[in-house]
Amino acid sequence: MKILVTGGCGFIGSNFIRYFLDSYPNDLIINVDKLTYAGNLENLADLSPSRRYHFIRADIAEAPPMEAILREGVDAVVNFAAESHVDRSIEDPSAFMKTNVFGTFVLLEAVRKVFPKRQIRFVHISTDEVYGSLGETGAFTEETSLAPNSPYSASKTAADMMVRAYHQTYGLPTFITRCSNNFGPYQFPEKLIPLLISNAIEDKELPIYGDGMHVRDWIYVEDHCRALDTVLHHGKEGEVYNVGGRSEMPNLIVAKAILERLGKPHSLLRFVKDRLGHDRRYAMDFSKIERELGWRPSVSFEEGISRTIEWYQAHQEWWRKIKTGEYLKYYERMYGNR
Ligand code: NAD
Ligand code: DAU
Repeated sequence: MKILVTGGCGFIGSNFIRYFLDSYPNDLIINVDKLTYAGNLENLADLSPSRRYHFIRADIAEAPPMEAILREGVDAVVNFAAESHVDRSIEDPSAFMKTNVFGTFVLLEAVRKVFPKRQIRFVHISTDEVYGSLGETGAFTEETSLAPNSPYSASKTAADMMVRAYHQTYGLPTFITRCSNNFGPYQFPEKLIPLLISNAIEDKELPIYGDGMHVRDWIYVEDHCRALDTVLHHGKEGEVYNVGGRSEMPNLIVAKAILERLGKPHSLLRFVKDRLGHDRRYAMDFSKIERELGWRPSVSFEEGISRTIEWYQAHQEWWRKIKTGEYLKYYERMYGNR
């Protein structure tokens, strides 16, 4: 199998590429990434270009390069490329519209142009955030109505709707996965867990939005990669699959778990002004993928967070290099007067 991975220099994409090349020694990957602030060639520095792995720097919103790559022949597209950070979407939504909505449309069009001569499986990586926010009970199923609350989640919802339309209208073999919050190696330190781990190592304050009781469901990134592999190979065309970690936790508990494992004091916690439109709680019902495809998460939060902390301790050069220049300006804008 030859697959086009988009956004493969980001967090989940780079973990997926490594996982996939290890799992399928005869398969090939083309990785297309624009290398935005979140794309980092160092995430795949251990992979040298070879017959099995090829990197192309390109924007998924540019039709000519996407069409040229697909004309050369691939069996599947796994679309990770996106602007992924909710806070940045609140600050300026425009890049989210361009990449997440228009970029997904460009990819779908490129696939349609070679269809039906080539049957390219299109796996679109979506998010639980398309469902909006839950009260104190219940969980999102694939049937839950879509009610995105941030510009980020609205852009992801729009993309999901285009993917759905291309299946319904043109018959493209599409698959949508909606996963909860990932954590693990190579996550950009703007997201909660790597931000808290790296700040704690540096003895900096840990910013907690609002009362810290917002709940997320955490999944170790390797489990997500395995779910995507399962959907890519065994998913039913046109279907949506929820993916979760069965690890619902308030942010404050996550923060305390990190401090305790690093032997740092709770006094590093700093409650800051809440995120605008902050979704209170996410929880996933992923019984469909369990029942129909036999996937379930295998790494507990305790195991995953220990592995992740160890990774950030051992790879300080990786994140210290990121936490300079533009990142410091971002940090000041985001947290300076909060
Ligand atoms: P990330 O921000 O770490 O990586 C995104 C990658 O996409 C980067 O390498 C970036 O350079 C690339 N990119 C951005 N715009 C591009 C464009 N126009 N053309 C080509 N490449 C472009 O994101 P992530 O956390 O790895 O998320 C990957 C995908 O998974 C996203 O679609 C996100 O919505 C989805 N998702 C993420 C999570 C999570 O917890 N991180 C959970 C569920 C779903
Ligand atoms: O649920 C899946 C989504 O998870 C993905 O679609 C997104 O791409 C990904 O970024 C993530 O979104 P969140 O907004 O949930 O993740 P983030 O790490 O930004 O925040 C997690 C929680 O922690 C959220 O309730 C906000 C809170 N938070 C976050 C930051 C950055 C803080 O309390 N302090 C912080 O400094």
